[in-house]
Amino acid sequence: MLKDIYYAEKKLTKALGKMAKNATLGRLKEAFKTHQAQTEDQIKKLERAFGILGMTPKAKKCAAMDGLLDEADEHIGEYEKGAGLDAALIVGAQKVEHYEIAAYGSMRTFARTLGYTECAAIFEQIREQESDTDEMLTSIAESVVNPQAEQEMEDVKSGGSSGSRASGNRGGQDSEAGEDSSSAVSGNGNGFDREAGDEALAGAFTGDDRDGDAETGSPMGY
Ligand SMILES: [Fe+2]
Ligand SMILES: [Fe+2]
Repeated sequence: MLKDIYYAEKKLTKALGKMAKNATLGRLKEAFKTHQAQTEDQIKKLERAFGILGMTPKAKKCAAMDGLLDEADEHIGEYEKGAGLDAALIVGAQKVEHYEIAAYGSMRTFARTLGYTECAAIFEQIREQESDTDEMLTSIAESVVNPQAEQEMEDVKSGGSSGSRASGNRGGQDSEAGEDSSSAVSGNGNGFDREAGDEALAGAFTGDDRDGDAETGSPMGY
């Protein structure tokens, strides 16, 4: 468990750097950078936990984190920089945070149960950082990204846009399908380069939305 999460955190420091580089919104970029620094510190905390348990820090491949990060990475290839990619990055990052929250919650409980109080405190500290990061991402999504996304969704739903656009975005990839009425929305952007961004933004929600939570304004139902 410890080796697994040690691997995950190490891999995540690099991924967060890439996410920060690809985020457009300043607040999101900052959130990724801040969490990257936090993650580096978490690695040191984990090394302390290894020490307490009399173990040498060692990483063991974590398939779950590999998968989550592969998925996040795919989005970076799929979307143009802008609101669409920002939304996708938030979703990817929140999936990672939720995985971490679950992992550290269990680790804390087991450590506490087994009498490793100091380790339990370390895991709980990290869990809180992950949880704060998750909340921060939700707040960024609610305040900036999702209201734009909802606008885009409504545009698609109300038939304001061509059918080819809606179906083209179904796969979440085709950001070329349809030069249409979304340009009316483009003018309302919050400083994003809307050219490709609003197509991609709608794609992020129509193509990848699993449960229709785009309507609630909450990023993918977290
Ligand atoms: Fe972490
Ligand atoms: Fe994290």
